[in-house]
Amino acid sequence: MTISLESTALAAFADSFEGAATVVARAPGRVELLGNHTDYNGGLVLASAIDRFTVVVGRATETRIGRLRSLNMGGTDTIKLDANIPGDAGTWSRYARGVVWALGEAFGPPKRGFDLVIAGNIPLGAGLSSSAGFQASLAMFLLGAGVYDKEVLTDEDRMLLAKTLRRSENEFVGVASGLLDQFCAFFGRIDHALLLDCSTEEYERLSLGSPAPAIVVCDSRTARRLADGMYNRRRAECEQVVSYFQDRDGADSVRWLRDVSLADLEKHWESLDPVARLRARHVLTENARVLQGAEALRGGDLTELGRLMTLSHSSSRDEFGNSSLALDALVSAAESAPGFLGGKLSGAGWAGCTVNLVTLSDVEEFSASVRAEYERRIGYEPAIHVCLAAEGGNFARLE
Ligand code: GLA
Repeated sequence: MTISLESTALAAFADSFEGAATVVARAPGRVELLGNHTDYNGGLVLASAIDRFTVVVGRATETRIGRLRSLNMGGTDTIKLDANIPGDAGTWSRYARGVVWALGEAFGPPKRGFDLVIAGNIPLGAGLSSSAGFQASLAMFLLGAGVYDKEVLTDEDRMLLAKTLRRSENEFVGVASGLLDQFCAFFGRIDHALLLDCSTEEYERLSLGSPAPAIVVCDSRTARRLADGMYNRRRAECEQVVSYFQDRDGADSVRWLRDVSLADLEKHWESLDPVARLRARHVLTENARVLQGAEALRGGDLTELGRLMTLSHSSSRDEFGNSSLALDALVSAAESAPGFLGGKLSGAGWAGCTVNLVTLSDVEEFSASVRAEYERRIGYEPAIHVCLAAEGGNFARLE
């Protein structure tokens, strides 16, 4: 699958630019297994990179411009490397410009220009983080092509890159997201889940077992834009609860929502804003579910992990208010399908996809059953992507 993505991109490069491509880079999308809206609250996340990728092919040039062609978006862009400031360029090129800007902030100005083509098969706008997959594959390409004075070698380098790309999304693109998506794009591992502590940045790769279950992504085919305000509104609601506890306990002891205990939240329940306290309780119970889910994986108990995922969905629906009719219909269709271990909405929510853990041998029957049941309830079929936990971003030189 990725071979054909890469060859499509290489053929498009030969059509669009002079010279041969010298570097191929790719990075995956991700699903969040547990830990919904915990990342920017300094909390815990359990996630997996999935085998859907963005691929970037191209070469460095002796110019001061970057020329980009996106096959999925059907557009081109030219970035002036010495005048690359946030502007009105369309969404994907704003993401590209942000990566070029943030890598420059981290490693010094680009030494060379570049020509490249982008191709990918991460469904867009579906909660699978196509944007972080794009950022990470572009960053891998730029480093692989020697555009910056930096090579990626170690896991420390990967963490620095993940944080650099988050900075790009926060400060250049203007989306206040946490570290989850970029972390997964760089740290994924075949047949593994990733446990990340977003305040200490400690992480662990946990085996999903052998054979690992399929990660079945069911797309409700309802799309939304991440930057459309809901995400930032939820973030503000969480911060409202943080401010309450900071006023009471001091900003040193409460830096994030993570630092508030569930017991304290419940003790102060009546003094808290009725909406914000529900948002906060979702985040705090999610942190607890991540710890329980990690423990379940250490003991090889996928049934327990699945149960926690389904609980997570109810908490998103009832307390965080980021589900939808279509997402709820997808989860309940999955619950009655063969091989279902657990399922929940993935990513920001409100629309897009659910993620389900499914016993590998039952995947076809599971998919057929969800397709029929969702159509019966909603009136049209969902798109279903059967995925496996995949390796994080990387590049290869072709010469
Ligand atoms: C989006 C954001 C992530 C994370 C999830 C919710 O995917 O990009 O950083 O906050 O929502 O868990």
